Amino acid sequence: MGAAPLKVAVFDAKKYDIDSLDRANAGRFTLDYLTASLSTRTVAAIGQAKAICIFVNDQCDAQVVEALASVGVELIALRCAGFNNVDLAACRRCGIDVVRVPEYSPYAVAEHTVALMLMLNRHLHLAYQRNRVGYFLLDGLIGFDMKGKQVGVVGTGRIGRATISILRGFGCRILAYDKNRSPEIAEDAEVRYVELDELLSSSDIITLHVPLFPETRYLIDERAIEQMKPGVMLINTSRGGLVDTKALIAGLKSGRIGFAGLDVYEEEAGIFFHDLSDQVLSDDVLARLMTFNNVVITSHQAFLTREALDNIADTTLANLAEFAADKRGASLSNVVLPS
Ligand code: NAI
Repeated sequence: MGAAPLKVAVFDAKKYDIDSLDRANAGRFTLDYLTASLSTRTVAAIGQAKAICIFVNDQCDAQVVEALASVGVELIALRCAGFNNVDLAACRRCGIDVVRVPEYSPYAVAEHTVALMLMLNRHLHLAYQRNRVGYFLLDGLIGFDMKGKQVGVVGTGRIGRATISILRGFGCRILAYDKNRSPEIAEDAEVRYVELDELLSSSDIITLHVPLFPETRYLIDERAIEQMKPGVMLINTSRGGLVDTKALIAGLKSGRIGFAGLDVYEEEAGIFFHDLSDQVLSDDVLARLMTFNNVVITSHQAFLTREALDNIADTTLANLAEFAADKRGASLSNVVLPS
């Protein structure tokens, strides 16, 4: 008799996750779908599973990691690229491997980034609402040509580069900042690498594509906002913690920031990906942010394309297959190790 199939507890499972993971799994492993997010309270739901599959807002701090180890979990399979929600040192201490999906569709996120820019620039969110109630005047809807505008791209990894490639089609001039300069970008005559201060003070639009690490937390704070051009557009489709939201609100109130497009919010866990439509919103900072007519918020949906979901599912199942074949540690293709 062969070994029992690997059991995997999939947290925060939405219909689109279940559809794509079931298709990629094709019955190989037992995927146990849970609607709950991972926390010390929900660890008990794991049962006999040796592996868990989590998403961006499943908090995996040291306490949760220890609880996972105590119920016999050996693998955390992130079905996303970012891993800021996992305490990697605690995982190593507890003998739990962590794998992720490093790339699934940089285009999905880059295209959403540019969608936010165009929506804000051409006031599409206001035009849509106005026209539905018969208000067909154009006052207040004046936009600007993207051509010739200076766009500052913070982080020139996969998503930053895909964003640059789209923006070049509009004829934007690109300033880029990254602590590891990409040779592909450095050779591009149309893009200029600069220090962060110059990018902040010279850009008409600033878009963030660096991961959330301790050193990038609040990269955009009061000081950074003070350096920006009056009326600048700020786009964040990376991680909420890159921006000090209270400083952003002050910048919007003073007019220093003319537009903000946000797909992520530093306190989004427990809010984004949930139906709270029958509740009072208790987050006063988010509530204030949503009152600005020059702010567009989407709830962490930049990744959400059919192609991205299929790629996420395929890589996640490949990660689980390696684990089921007894690969561990550095021999796992998409392992994340503590720095
Ligand atoms: P990547 O790893 O390809 O690129 C990240 C870039 O940031 C690298 O070039 C790196 O050198 C640079 N970087 C890292 N630390 C830095 C620092 N301290 N200062 C300056 N540059 C620094 O990552 P990728 O695929 O481009 O993704 C970027 C981020 O986008 C992810 O970490 C994730 O947080 C976010 N993301 C958001 C999604 C959404 O649905 N909203 C979906 C997927 C990713």
